[in-house]
Amino acid sequence: MSQRINRAIVPAAGLGTRMLPATKSQPKEMLPVARKPVVQYVVEELQGAGLDQILVITGRRKRAIEDHFDPDPFLLSSLEQAGNELLLAELSSLQSRARFFYTSQSSPRGLGDAISLGTEFADGQDCVVALGDSLIAGSQPSDPLSAMMRAHVDLKAAAIVAVEEVPAEDTFRYGIVSPASGDLPTGEPIRMKDIIEKPPRGTAPSNLAVAARYVFSPAIFEALPRVFPDRKNEIQLTDGIRLLIQQGLPVYAWLLPPENRRYDVGNFESYFRTFIDFALADERYGYMVRQYIKAKAYEL
Ligand code: UTP
Repeated sequence: MSQRINRAIVPAAGLGTRMLPATKSQPKEMLPVARKPVVQYVVEELQGAGLDQILVITGRRKRAIEDHFDPDPFLLSSLEQAGNELLLAELSSLQSRARFFYTSQSSPRGLGDAISLGTEFADGQDCVVALGDSLIAGSQPSDPLSAMMRAHVDLKAAAIVAVEEVPAEDTFRYGIVSPASGDLPTGEPIRMKDIIEKPPRGTAPSNLAVAARYVFSPAIFEALPRVFPDRKNEIQLTDGIRLLIQQGLPVYAWLLPPENRRYDVGNFESYFRTFIDFALADERYGYMVRQYIKAKAYEL
């Protein structure tokens, strides 16, 4: 009988050089988007999909992430005394709905290297990987992951990888998927025939880019140690997935629906867009932000 997937790995050990100086002393995963740090959205999405064991792969500036998810009895009791029930409930639910584990990647040798540090944590079970610098939009951001996890179990997949469409001229920046058949319907698994990390301009087999959410069987932890480092001496997760395909294992792509599009905070342009869209969608302050932007638009 297949077991429920309950483990997730959140890599957050990258250098974040494109976000300097904002990331000089804190990981980009702790940058605020509207009222929360990015990694809190990621954790809430995982909790919403029923994942209650979360391993965060941290790097040199790890303290802020651990502090954020550690219970803080002093803060909780002062909120209690102040009668701030709303914040109290928010903070308590974040900590009570998952158990957190941390391990550190001594040097950022690539996403594949980071994920391989989760081998013991995964303990031979299926698990989810959710990049700590990427958010899923929508009123139900856990929906795509929940559906991917169900499909993974039903299909006995080796991997299901979320993808999104990107402009053809940008494919050289991403891991690009080659689907086995022409059309890729939204929200359904489609067998993958290849995956290529950052294909040179003009050579991409599609405009479907890997989009920060994955479900893996334990086969990935056997594949990653066999991946050769790339030109930058990094172990790419994409190359590990490629090995799974070459072994003939069932690997699928899953196109995110437009309402659950992926946002990443890896560069400033994308971070600013993310902040604005999430601030506009904020249930408490969205209205005020909308009014402000409308007024401001007249001045531009
Ligand atoms: P990026 O590919 O954006 O790399 O990582 P980066 O190093 O963080 O950023 P730049 O290129 O220096 O600006 C995507 C995700 O994978 C994690 C990052 O923390 C981010 O969440 N990552 C990346 C690791 O955990 N370890 C690595 O070695 C590389």
